[in-house]
Amino acid sequence: MEKINGERLWGSLMDLAKIGATPKGGVKRLALTEVDRQGRDQFVRWARDAGLAVRWDTVGNIFARREGAAPLPPVMIGSHLDSQPSGGRFDGAYGVMAGLEVLRTLNDRKIKTRAPVEVADWTNEEGSRFAPGMAGSAVFAGVHSLDHVVSQKDLEGITFAEALERIGYAGAGAPHPVGAYFEAHIEQGPVLEDTHTTIGVVQGALGQRWFDVAVIGQDAHAGPTPMELRKDALIGASRLVLEVNRIAREYPDYARATVGFMQVKPNSRNVVPGEVRLTVDMRNASDATLLRMKEDLEKTAARVGAECRVAAEVREIMYFPPCQFAPALVDSVRRAAATLGLSHRDIVSGAGHDAVHLARVAPTAMIFVPCEGGISHNEIENARPEDLAAGCNVLLNAVLERAGN
Ligand code: GLV
Ligand code: MN
Ligand code: MN
Repeated sequence: MEKINGERLWGSLMDLAKIGATPKGGVKRLALTEVDRQGRDQFVRWARDAGLAVRWDTVGNIFARREGAAPLPPVMIGSHLDSQPSGGRFDGAYGVMAGLEVLRTLNDRKIKTRAPVEVADWTNEEGSRFAPGMAGSAVFAGVHSLDHVVSQKDLEGITFAEALERIGYAGAGAPHPVGAYFEAHIEQGPVLEDTHTTIGVVQGALGQRWFDVAVIGQDAHAGPTPMELRKDALIGASRLVLEVNRIAREYPDYARATVGFMQVKPNSRNVVPGEVRLTVDMRNASDATLLRMKEDLEKTAARVGAECRVAAEVREIMYFPPCQFAPALVDSVRRAAATLGLSHRDIVSGAGHDAVHLARVAPTAMIFVPCEGGISHNEIENARPEDLAAGCNVLLNAVLERAGN
């Protein structure tokens, strides 16, 4: 079986991690910022050095292509170079660098595949600066319109379109057909490490619903305003945070629910807060249960609002159902892991990935590798070079099986 160059893969990951490096050893490369541009520029340089044809589309997704012998739709490998505000070195970056390493290996071995092979860097996977996440792949797969995505604003009021233009990655061209899609990623959870398994053969991913919640009360003086007359938006919001946690615990099948962002206005020590904005992220393996969780949230918000004398407005801003990857491609991943003699097990992704959207337009599969302590979306996120190399070897061989030679 063909093998990639693990040292070169690790070296590229470490070089990339210098761009937007944070003091605790992580990265901060928020989508469409100057550092995201630097990360993209580095990827484009490396891709061109490898002789790949590089272009980007209207939403800033970058494609680096190695031609095949036949005029077939490409086998695509992708992930994302943007990060969370306190992100790690591997979330997303691993998938893109693993794709690049596969193409470098094909060059080294002078392997001519039948289908072209492309590496994609999808724009704004994280959804931290601009919601929703997985935005570039959503536009590519027709899940969201380009207009909807590029009109979103960050906290400073800068639109996605302005930010994309500013970093010079607003390209042209319509989405193109994809023959098969693979994404390698760190697990971001504890299962592989706990079970001493090197490769996660990903079956699919949890469905998600994201909400923006506005709790509106009334600003008032912290001294003269009696407790019973207050319309304290932060009291309403605090109760909602606990209810969101309660919802996740009450429903079966991998229920998750998180309030990760909260903005208090006017945020002054002696003013009763008149307005709170918060986000809710809900996930489940069952679409029907995910819907019941949403209904619970809406009902609970109305009840808490009434009890706290505030208005709690819940607006859903993103939804995708649980997804099942293509059995034939999942088998390719399992077969590659088995043939390479790597321990492997089936696994479900709790995280969203661009693969979830690609699965709508092409047969899709994912490969997970362990990360230390299962910790991710954290600067201390860590993974072992040998596991990253193993995942990339599985990727190479699954891609070769699909692209043919
Ligand atoms: C992606 O990072 C997610 O929120 O699942
Ligand atoms: Mn990711
Ligand atoms: Mn992430």
